[in-house]
Amino acid sequence: MKIKKKVLIILISISIVILIAVIFFVISPKVRFIENLEVPINKEYYNLDAIKNIKNGKIISNKERIDTSKLGNIEITIEIKNILGISKKYKTKIKIVDTEAPNIIYKNILTTQIGKEIDLLNGVEVSDNSNEKINVVVEGEYDFNKTGEYLLYYVAKDSSGNIKKEKFTLKVLANGVNESYFTTSKGFSGVIKNGVTYIDGYLVVNKTYSLPSTYGNGLTKETMDAFNELKSAALLDGFNIYIASGFRSYDRQVTLYNNYVKRDGKNAADTYSARPGHSEHQSGLTFDVNEVSDKFHNTPEANWLKDNCYKYGFILRFPNGKDKETGFKYESWHFRYVGKELAKKLYNDGDWLTMEEYFGILSIYED
Ligand code: DAL
Ligand code: ZN
Repeated sequence: MKIKKKVLIILISISIVILIAVIFFVISPKVRFIENLEVPINKEYYNLDAIKNIKNGKIISNKERIDTSKLGNIEITIEIKNILGISKKYKTKIKIVDTEAPNIIYKNILTTQIGKEIDLLNGVEVSDNSNEKINVVVEGEYDFNKTGEYLLYYVAKDSSGNIKKEKFTLKVLANGVNESYFTTSKGFSGVIKNGVTYIDGYLVVNKTYSLPSTYGNGLTKETMDAFNELKSAALLDGFNIYIASGFRSYDRQVTLYNNYVKRDGKNAADTYSARPGHSEHQSGLTFDVNEVSDKFHNTPEANWLKDNCYKYGFILRFPNGKDKETGFKYESWHFRYVGKELAKKLYNDGDWLTMEEYFGILSIYED
């Protein structure tokens, strides 16, 4: 009997201990952290972000920002209390990583004259999310003593092995050739070659972009060929289109412009006559047709040209109501050869766009 009682007491004690252990187990907090957590360097990250979920517990730790400025492992400790108010610390590791390549700021075209070495890294800047100092190297072959275009790369690598490679061109120009490059607000590439501006390959003359005084010697062959095509098509439709003023030299524009200034004053003249070097007539790609006056507007010939010139590669260069863009008043008689592709775009289904709008450029005199 005595033994039986003892066994019973032992069994009951064991059961109580087991029961207490089970209760403790059931009520103890279950904390799960995000596994294999990798956080980008310098990212805003908080201790509590590492927790996936918690059961039976309440976080005691405050929300604290983790220092993510150095690569490697960091231990995070979070204190949690159970429903009885007993607190315990839980730990996890996060890894600070860098998976982002450096950023290179550079010019995509560099030019120099033959025999003149330039520092290809001059003005090149690199930044990286890790803030580390990163070197850039130039990859590719080039020769400052040989004219040509060399396709090269800037290469930057951070300590985590992320590589950025950016393409650029080195142009080694012959002596006497002068080129500089720019990008328009609409992202077109511009080049000023010996004083002549080309945007996306198209020669541009307006109040901002001029021609050297020596440039030009008549209408170009492609302009004349295209005009003859246009003239024939117009004739078939019963219209006679003829060139009233074609190529005008710099010197001729000096005389014309000065006469207009004398007659109307500079401010007025600037609204309808280009200053020498700024007239498209000097480009050899432009002509005025038929009647060079406002009376030409709305004539059958003007209307035919407005709606059909683009088919032959011409544009109405100074459309009505676009004075601000082109810098000049509406000229129903002034046409510019640009080729069929661009002409169709600028025709814009009859709602003429200007070169200035299309390329994202201005037409304003410097002074
Ligand atoms: N009439 C145009 C703007 C010129 O002089 O070229
Ligand atoms: Zn004209």
